[in-house]
Amino acid sequence: MKGNEVSPLSRTAVAERAAEQFRVWHGAEPGGVWYAPGRANLIGEHTDYNEGWVLPFALDQSVVVAARRRGDGALDIRSRQAEGPVTVPLATLRAGSVTGWAAYPAGVAWALREAGHAVGGASLVIDSDLPQGAGLSSSAAIECATAVALATLYQVGVSRPELARLARRAENEMVGVPSGIMDQSASLLCEAGHALLLDCRSGDTAPVPLDPAAAGLELLLVDTGARHALTDGRYALRRAECEQAARALGARSLRDVDDPARTAEIADPVLARRARHVITDNCRVRAAVDLLNAGDLAGLGPLLHASHASLRDDFEISWPEANVAAEAAEAGGGLGARMMGGGFGGSVIALVPADAEGPREAIAAAYASRGWPPPRFLPAPPSAGAGRLL
Ligand code: GLA
Repeated sequence: MKGNEVSPLSRTAVAERAAEQFRVWHGAEPGGVWYAPGRANLIGEHTDYNEGWVLPFALDQSVVVAARRRGDGALDIRSRQAEGPVTVPLATLRAGSVTGWAAYPAGVAWALREAGHAVGGASLVIDSDLPQGAGLSSSAAIECATAVALATLYQVGVSRPELARLARRAENEMVGVPSGIMDQSASLLCEAGHALLLDCRSGDTAPVPLDPAAAGLELLLVDTGARHALTDGRYALRRAECEQAARALGARSLRDVDDPARTAEIADPVLARRARHVITDNCRVRAAVDLLNAGDLAGLGPLLHASHASLRDDFEISWPEANVAAEAAEAGGGLGARMMGGGFGGSVIALVPADAEGPREAIAAAYASRGWPPPRFLPAPPSAGAGRLL
């Protein structure tokens, strides 16, 4: 049996749908409709909060926010995908004061105001064609779509990198997840046809050409069906382990360690493995950038394979469905595949020949033979970062 191919709605169709929903709920035209995409990550996993390097790219699927200013100093937040409305007076916002899904947009308004930006009330209607819990950063996309909407509605002059930092602050302090800066940066800064090289210490970014179709290849996401939540504590535990490993090596962060052999200096074998993953994945990001700049996209295959093994065996955050999907993708003719994102659920990214059925069939067959529901496939052409649609 084959898996299900997910064909995205066009962004404009989602924007029209959100605008129409806004009219129904508020009896008025929205002031505008903005979108922010989900992200895939080519390579560099759990390296962002270690001040290392990441290489994400934006997806075609996004979160859309239809928004309009309000004069009563309140946020009215509604979503076509969640229960609501949630109404919050801006003056009452504190770190952690909003819980549940509305914490993401409310947290962004709070972070903007904390940074001294004169953002007032707004009605926000959220819509999305981005699967939730699939490891594609739907939460960062909600934050970033809200950030560009509020910044435009209130004519706040704030750069995209600064918006990414504020959106991350919303996630860290309003939602309470100690995530890094990768997802928000990808959603706000990516360019179509490119990945984004991000140095998570300096904040420096560079677009790196990523055009699989021109190389006769395709980047394929496999939603493994296993759900993950960054809020469940395991992400925070990995982060704490990395900080301990850096201390054991006398380094400010694992970014400062280049030689994987140095992990022999760490007495605790678990911490040594965690460090080895981060150190080697940082090396793989830079190797991947060199390959892409040299036009050798196929050369990424072995790096993806090695990254998966490192995430599975050293960082220990892979999950059964991801291991099966990555292995089957390669057995079916893929050049390389790996689990993606925070871990313990979500998606696999595979580099496969364009139009090849082999990897999809091999993954679907491996799932069927285990009695698992068919996985969903999402073709992932590198797309543009956040912007305005209507
Ligand atoms: C999640 C976090 C990111 C990053 C990845 C793992 O997506 O939000 O900051 O740490 O996990 O690379």
